[in-house]
Amino acid sequence: MAWRLFIHVDRDCGTPLTVQIHDAIQREIVAGSLRPATRLPSSRQLAADLAVSRSVVVEAYDRLIAEGYLDAVRGSGTRVARHISPVTARPEPVHRPEAQLVRFDLRPDAGDGVHFPHSDWLTAYDRAVRSVRLPDLDRPPSCGVAALRTELAGYLGRVVGVRAEPGQTLVTAGFSAALRLLSGALRRIGIDQLGVEDPGHPRHRRLAARFGLRPHPVPVDDGGIDVRALAASGVRAVLTTAAHQFPTGVTMSGERRGQLLRWAHDNDAWIIELDHDGDLWMEPRPRPLALQREAPDRVVYAGTASTILGPGLRVGWLCVPSPLLPVVDRVGVDREFAVDSLTQLAFAEFIRSGLLDRHARRMRARCRARREAFNQAVGRHLPQARTIGSTAGLYAYLRLAGQLDEAALLTGAACRSVLVAGGRSFAVDRPPPSAALVVGYAGLPRSGLFEAFRLVGETAAGLPGQPCLRHTA
Ligand SMILES: Cc1ncc(COP(=O)(O)O)c(C=O)c1O
Repeated sequence: MAWRLFIHVDRDCGTPLTVQIHDAIQREIVAGSLRPATRLPSSRQLAADLAVSRSVVVEAYDRLIAEGYLDAVRGSGTRVARHISPVTARPEPVHRPEAQLVRFDLRPDAGDGVHFPHSDWLTAYDRAVRSVRLPDLDRPPSCGVAALRTELAGYLGRVVGVRAEPGQTLVTAGFSAALRLLSGALRRIGIDQLGVEDPGHPRHRRLAARFGLRPHPVPVDDGGIDVRALAASGVRAVLTTAAHQFPTGVTMSGERRGQLLRWAHDNDAWIIELDHDGDLWMEPRPRPLALQREAPDRVVYAGTASTILGPGLRVGWLCVPSPLLPVVDRVGVDREFAVDSLTQLAFAEFIRSGLLDRHARRMRARCRARREAFNQAVGRHLPQARTIGSTAGLYAYLRLAGQLDEAALLTGAACRSVLVAGGRSFAVDRPPPSAALVVGYAGLPRSGLFEAFRLVGETAAGLPGQPCLRHTA
């Protein structure tokens, strides 16, 4: 490999070339530009780049190695030393204690990306790159690459019954960017508040507020969002995770769906239906179809690849009702912030060739097995706890019995190297009736889940005044 290094030499300054090279590299190591373990060019390469004789570079490198700045390892070339003496280099940043202590991360996002289909994605990406045309390498269209919009419209129609043309189907950098776009559109039509589920995802509230919509918390019960409370609030737009509510896991009842659609119709209001884990339905009964199909002119359907593939991908989608489309178009996504075209083309290929369907099927099987292990681990170590909601996605909501102090439980678990989220951190106006855990179970194997819950159970058993939460070995 022809590694490159930016240093220069000055033939007229009178300083020997070896000294110049030595000093330049030493200076950059001390300044922090050349980081520990950074690969340097071979002496032959650097000599050629600087137009000096190789022996000049060899001598400079030898001195730096003797002084401990560089390491020369046979087969892996010359690198900046991994452990440079503190006198000569800046200390490495200290790791956060959290990073060192966590053995088990059970927070709801922790499993995202764990089941990424490396080889299938490479296949799709490879095909996309091989068939790329020059216009594909121009800045991506702000609303997404046509091939992906077409594939998404077809896929969403096929798996959740969405009714949308490719022209209404937009690609965004995850749901977060979709929310930004929608917030801009809603503000343009005079809406400045967004109904959000309580409990709900704090990021949704934070982003809505940042994009200019005041979040208005609306309670959620066992049937989904409380439409009466929504109607009483006077808001004209709401964000709901109807099929699998985050974080409770509740699936909106048929009756509530009807009420919600009527509310939107009667109040000239908009529903944003976020289907964040639509591919991961694991109940024996069929998954409810998209609300959007029942009112394509009122419901914005939103989805994300973050759950099924991983949040690092930054791909999401929106099916926008025709009446709202011109407004959304006017707001638009800056082309500079659009999702990169190669990722979009790869994702289009991933869908077109059936790899997404196959991956979703495999992931459901894996998640089902983990969910089963989670249920058993909870049954053994937190026997009084009860999971509510539907079996879907990568998280579960666990209601704990008695008057357990949730904060003390979380702190105690963290002291035992287990990170887990409490129900309270998702609530706004209405604290949950009892302590609760929101558990991301998909990232840990069976043995990890059992050990993690053994530690949580041990913590719970040690808290005062909790007779009903016995730790069982
Ligand atoms: C409730 C919820 N909202 C949003 C997301 C994803 O957001 P984004 O697409 O911005 O990564 C997820 C999953 O990753 C989620 O579970």
